Amino acid sequence: MNSPVIAPSVLAADFANLQRDVEMLNESRADWIHIDIMDGLFVPIISFGLPVCEAINRHAQKPLDVHLMIERPEHYLAAFQKAGAEVISVHYEACTHLHRTLQEIKALGCQAGVAINPHTSVSLLEDVIMDIDLVCIMSVNPGFGGQSFIPNTYQKVRDLKAIINRKGAGTLIEIDGGVNADNTPKLMEAGADVLVAGSFVFKAENPKATIAALKDA
Ligand code: DX5
Ligand code: ZN
Repeated sequence: MNSPVIAPSVLAADFANLQRDVEMLNESRADWIHIDIMDGLFVPIISFGLPVCEAINRHAQKPLDVHLMIERPEHYLAAFQKAGAEVISVHYEACTHLHRTLQEIKALGCQAGVAINPHTSVSLLEDVIMDIDLVCIMSVNPGFGGQSFIPNTYQKVRDLKAIINRKGAGTLIEIDGGVNADNTPKLMEAGADVLVAGSFVFKAENPKATIAALKDA
């Protein structure tokens, strides 16, 4: 089994010390930096927007993995690419023309991701899987950090992995929400490739060691 790509979520960072926290991630074994954009419409709260993403990008030495929890994400793709995004994930539930939106993300030179809410079946992605670089399976309802992991996620990972293998796609499976050292081995066994972790990393006494522990779990 490969070791997971670790993408700490700065939603749980100290916003008054973002540069410090991004530099900590630069020095750590984190692979990507996960950026949660929330608009107060698709999800209940507003997190932060483009200027904060740009500011993170000025200090980050790792790829920015931007998770758009917003309505009409197609209107903001180019702006997030300019703000430093290398991976852009849009929500399945927010995209009427998902196939077109994925092509637009790729045309910007970014990796195209699709995030799915806990109630959304992975089978809905079958017809578009060849066009998706990354599926972000939400293992909590999006909108807040610090929620508990939904156990049905393991089966979703296995089902999605079966679709990817059957179609011969190169799609990565990312897990977002409530990830910790207890569920990581089971997620890896089910077929996960990328793990997002917010509170588990930033609320830890030693975030760098916590990232390393997830990497080696
Ligand atoms: C939830 C966000 C997550 C969040 C994860 O809506 O998409 O990326 O930051 O936070 P934890 O790891 O605390 O559940
Ligand atoms: Zn996220």
